[in-house]
Amino acid sequence: MTADVGHSYLGRTGRSHKLYRRALATMPAGATRSLNSWPPHPLYLTHGRGSRVTDVDGNEYVDLLNNYTALVLGHADPEVVEAVSAAAARGTSFSFSTPQESELAELLCARVPSLERVRFAGSGTEAVMFALRLARAHTGRSRIAKMEGGFHGTHDDVAVSVRPSPGSWGPAHAPASTADMAGLPDGCPDRVLVLPFNDVASTTALLRRHHRDLAAVIVEPILGVGGMLPATGEYLAALRALCTELGIVLIFDEVITLRVSPGGAQAAYGVRPDLTVMGKVIGGGLPIGAYGGRDDLMSQLEPQGGTDVYDARSGGPRLYQGGTFTGNPCSLAAGLVTLRRLTPRVQNELAAKGDQLRGALARRIADGGLAAAVTGHSSLFNIHVGVTDVTGFRDVRRVDAAAQQALFLDLLTEGFIIAPRGMGAVSTATDRADIDAFVDAVIAALTRLAAP
Ligand SMILES: Cc1ncc(COP(=O)(O)O)c(C=O)c1O
Repeated sequence: MTADVGHSYLGRTGRSHKLYRRALATMPAGATRSLNSWPPHPLYLTHGRGSRVTDVDGNEYVDLLNNYTALVLGHADPEVVEAVSAAAARGTSFSFSTPQESELAELLCARVPSLERVRFAGSGTEAVMFALRLARAHTGRSRIAKMEGGFHGTHDDVAVSVRPSPGSWGPAHAPASTADMAGLPDGCPDRVLVLPFNDVASTTALLRRHHRDLAAVIVEPILGVGGMLPATGEYLAALRALCTELGIVLIFDEVITLRVSPGGAQAAYGVRPDLTVMGKVIGGGLPIGAYGGRDDLMSQLEPQGGTDVYDARSGGPRLYQGGTFTGNPCSLAAGLVTLRRLTPRVQNELAAKGDQLRGALARRIADGGLAAAVTGHSSLFNIHVGVTDVTGFRDVRRVDAAAQQALFLDLLTEGFIIAPRGMGAVSTATDRADIDAFVDAVIAALTRLAAP
């Protein structure tokens, strides 16, 4: 089956193949994002509109990945395009702020329960970096805690135990801190305490043992890269109580989960973090990040006399945030249009489409006795191949990697895009009939995979 799929994929993507050969000469793996390079060769796209994108060979795809969940209104939404064009015509970036900056800040603070004040950043990665630094400055402690399987971007502090392997991940109740990338500074994994997601008792024990060194606990309310696994309400409530008791800053990474309700996952769960990191949908498809939260934490970014380096209040170095393209008017304009369109009604419809997709898939997988599982929540989903019961992050790592890749290529050949690891997200532009066709294609592919 894999050979057949590979064959038909190659047959319809000749121009992508040529572009890939050309790109290899000047770009490692022929791409800028490491995950955009897969065998036999990646796809190169020319344009998108609504729920669909087109590749350089003219093949059309229903896009169920939507730039890794960022495009909540689909591609080239006319209102977003108009707002971005108008903003670009006025100037693509400035040395100073624009009025749109506080407009988007006000909108976010009005919607997301824990946000009292907010700052923008160039990406989710940057926003996480600033939020962790803020927590360190506030607590005077330097280690952080994160979940096994938690993804928070690509900088050193959080490149730990994102995709650990069974050989080195240690006991489930006290996961080992493992480097997730080459090139991390010495001691980097040791500066991170890794917590077992959704395990209240073990997390409690670990935080109680290590709290004196811990500046922050950072958690995605739904593990995204880690397999679209929702936290239990009990787990987030326990983290909240423990962090308050132990003086640790609780950070929710809502870069993906701001999709699940107008106030993000924290509104849906009814748990308020101290700081929240955002990105993706708040930029309407353009680069952005943001972090915000409690006023007393965020006010550390306000100069208190001293010099441009030293803070009169602490006598030490002051917190500083830079970024040439931070708060650029095009991202802000796209974000404002997008968030205004995401009314509670629209967001409920979006979630209902996700429920339709996951519900139909789960039913037909069970009916067919197929070796796969579906996880997710609201508009988010993940299909796991080769495992039937995914309740924790370690189950996600037990997928059949070859079969997972085969599903990805088979779906591309049938005209559907998801992530190679099986993750996806519907947008407001996703058609319900396309969801039915997608479910049929997944079941057909899984059935072929199961054939002897
Ligand atoms: C939960 C989470 N946090 C942070 C990031 C990093 O965001 P960015 O890619 O904008 O740097 C991502 C990106 O996928 C993410 O999923």
